[in-house]
Amino acid sequence: MRIAVVGQGYVGLTGAVSMALQGHQVTGVERDPERLRTLERGEAPVYEPGLPEQLAQVSGRVTFVPEVVAAHKRFPFDVVMITVGTPPGPTGAADLSQVQAAVEEASGLLPAPYVVLKSTVPPGTSDALVRAHPELRDRFAYNPEFLNQGSALTDWLAPARVVVGVYAEEMRAVIQRLYPQLSCPMVVTTPPSAEMTKYASNVFLATKISFANEMARLCDRPGMDIDDVLRGVGFDPRIGHAFLQPGLGYGDSCLPKDTAALARWAVDHGVPTPLLDATIKVNAEQPRIVAAMLRETLGESFARSRIAVLGVRYEPWSDDLRAAPSLTVIPELMAAGASVRVWDPALSPDGLTDLFPGVIPCEDLPTAVHDANAVLVLTEWPDIIEADWADLAGRLAAPRLVVDGKNCLLPDRITGLPLLYRSIGSRLPHGATHPSPAPQP
Ligand SMILES: NC(=O)c1ccc[n+]([C@@H]2O[C@H](COP(=O)([O-])OP(=O)(O)OC[C@H]3O[C@@H](n4cnc5c(N)ncnc54)[C@H](O)[C@@H]3O)[C@@H](O)[C@H]2O)c1
Repeated sequence: MRIAVVGQGYVGLTGAVSMALQGHQVTGVERDPERLRTLERGEAPVYEPGLPEQLAQVSGRVTFVPEVVAAHKRFPFDVVMITVGTPPGPTGAADLSQVQAAVEEASGLLPAPYVVLKSTVPPGTSDALVRAHPELRDRFAYNPEFLNQGSALTDWLAPARVVVGVYAEEMRAVIQRLYPQLSCPMVVTTPPSAEMTKYASNVFLATKISFANEMARLCDRPGMDIDDVLRGVGFDPRIGHAFLQPGLGYGDSCLPKDTAALARWAVDHGVPTPLLDATIKVNAEQPRIVAAMLRETLGESFARSRIAVLGVRYEPWSDDLRAAPSLTVIPELMAAGASVRVWDPALSPDGLTDLFPGVIPCEDLPTAVHDANAVLVLTEWPDIIEADWADLAGRLAAPRLVVDGKNCLLPDRITGLPLLYRSIGSRLPHGATHPSPAPQP
């Protein structure tokens, strides 16, 4: 098929490359001039493992253009797929302006292509779109995307399921041609149900994370190990280990905005959502917990402390910082008066200063921790986990506090070192009865 993919962000570019790998002829449409120039050079403007290599492999089957109309006139598309952003608006509701503009443009194309909307949109959006553009109705499908950043290509090429909301039966066959190698279940339903399926999935994942964080709060006492508790819980096949991980809360580009958007939608429709509200509340508190740990342990000297923040990304495998907890935690430490040094292996000192004006950006890990009173780990970078913690402990100043916001440091690397180790819920280094005692200042 000849496919235009409108919007070349994380989802659109992954989709363009994956569909080209599956044999389609794909045109990526991107209105941002800088992103477009990068794509035209054959480079990926977003970081996703494997994407640069696969983009190079499909270079003959993917082209990039700034808008869809002229390209459609030259050589009409069978399908226009819309993967534009739906960022949160001021009330938390999804801002649908990019979707509305893209659908408006697609609805005017002649000969008329099929239109497949993939952006995450609140229930009722497709109904409103086809009411505004009735000529689209039988050629329209809502087909939410469930990929995870970090495994986006695999998720697209081998999804766990495909969900599609249609008004006309013929769209089922279009979706089947779009995903020729499909071997997973396909749920065909109404567009509002498909829209709700996407939100319900993300809200469930967010709830699992907030549940793990609440359990960690309960396990923050001697003799308990949150890792063991959640390992034991997750082996139940009805529950599973995925997303059962305490830490700084969900801070990727989807769960914060999608939970907020569904909560807003529920308010607008007069439906109470106590469980969803609690999930959001637990998550909002989570980054503050690590700041509170620093404050509590450093006591009165907190405001004069030197704090080394290790990692600012939410996840090592994604450069998407849109809702990363570091954006909340670092300004809070600075506002309290602490001297904050920051190191992240993926960001240059200039990049760090642009993100966090006023911090001391560091070139490497030993420099960041040198003479710091406390270390705060915000990303589970292998460079941090596998660092020589005995050496780092020797570089720290009293009270040598390490707050592990991702519960990622390995007990056998830190046990016995002169560090005061704190995590999200207590974790017992194996063979010890409690994390290493605080050295005397
Ligand atoms: N990022 C994820 O992991 C993920 C996963 C599943 C679903 N989603 C959903 O998919 C959608 C896209 O997410 P994303 O992270 O790829 O967004 P993004 O913001 O990274 O990319 C969107 C792109 O669309 C471009 N764009 C907007 N309007 C355009 C137009 N009219 N013509 C051409 N280009 C246009 C923007 O310039 C931008 O580059 C969102 O609704 C999101 O919620 C995202």
